[in-house]
Amino acid sequence: MSKQAPGVRIDGLTVVYKTTAGELPAVRDVSLTLEPGSITGIVGESGSGKSTLALSLLNAVQPPGRISAGSVEIDGLGDVVGLRGEQLRKARGKHIGYVFQAAQNSLNPLKTVGKQLLDLGRSHGVEDLRGLVREARELLGRMGLDGARVLDSHQHELSGGMRQRVGIMLALVLNAHVVVLDEPTTALDMITQANILKIVREVHAERGLTTLVITHDIGVVAEVADRLAVMYGGRLVEQGPTREVLGSPRHPYTKGLIRAIPRLVGDIDEAQALPGRPPTLATVPKQGCVFRERCALRMDVCDDVDPEAVLQGTRTVACHAVTVKEHA
Ligand SMILES: Nc1ncnc2c1ncn2[C@@H]1O[C@H](COP(=O)(O)OP(=O)(O)OP(=O)(O)O)[C@@H](O)[C@H]1O
Ligand SMILES: [Mg+2]
Repeated sequence: MSKQAPGVRIDGLTVVYKTTAGELPAVRDVSLTLEPGSITGIVGESGSGKSTLALSLLNAVQPPGRISAGSVEIDGLGDVVGLRGEQLRKARGKHIGYVFQAAQNSLNPLKTVGKQLLDLGRSHGVEDLRGLVREARELLGRMGLDGARVLDSHQHELSGGMRQRVGIMLALVLNAHVVVLDEPTTALDMITQANILKIVREVHAERGLTTLVITHDIGVVAEVADRLAVMYGGRLVEQGPTREVLGSPRHPYTKGLIRAIPRLVGDIDEAQALPGRPPTLATVPKQGCVFRERCALRMDVCDDVDPEAVLQGTRTVACHAVTVKEHA
């Protein structure tokens, strides 16, 4: 682990979106520490608040959304929730590298990738632009692409998977030490995906990064993350070392997620889809446990009291049923 790697402490973070029914939380009272030099994975079904949480790391939640409570302390930067304007612009890219979800669609269609790379470099005051181009070619080459050709291309000349890799290159090329990857491999086939994850791990280790990988695919985090955080309905329901969380999940939602993955269960016939559907902003319960509607362990208390995140050894779990068992 490198001395350079900054730690990130998310504390009591709540992010709301304004809707016709008022402001509703997409992320509610989430606390999560990204240890310096670690790769943390966040998993959860669609709508659980993963991207909203990721955007908060750059203070980039856009209206009708806003961070309504909490802080995101990044070593060397301070609380990004308090950053504004130029400070914030500089932090993005230089301190925090970011691949947006659907990065394959976020390139400028009118400019070559190389031109966009130079714009990025200039906007961050990079003096050695040749060095920047060299670095970009190198990264693209490692991801199995012809760097020079890609830099000369426009978006429409690249496949979805190629654009996704360009997005990863752009997140890494300024040498940021906190890197956030939101669904970095969704447009890729399995082999390319495995390859890209390997490169993410290598670059992470070489540069001493602190990395956050967001995905709905538990297989992806199993492969790359040291620590794993599970989100449901805007709440963090379980977190801990990846191997432990996957090997002996405690929260009923984590158990359900894992049972649904043939790759992890090891046998396609044993995999069971999680019954029911995840909540939306409008249907997520305002009080009590957010998961209770789909939970086999539901008790009376779950209807009224939101379970607190309780530290159990190396694991944090927010579930009345699990916590009661521990105390009994
Ligand atoms: N701009 C917006 N306005 C209103 N609601 C929003 C907005 N963006 C997201 N939401 C809602 O906030 C909740 C969390 O969304 P978010 O995109 O963070 O989830 P996610 O876990 O990243 O989902 P996915 O796996 O589909 O990417 C969802 O219910 C979503 O509909
Ligand atoms: Mg998302």
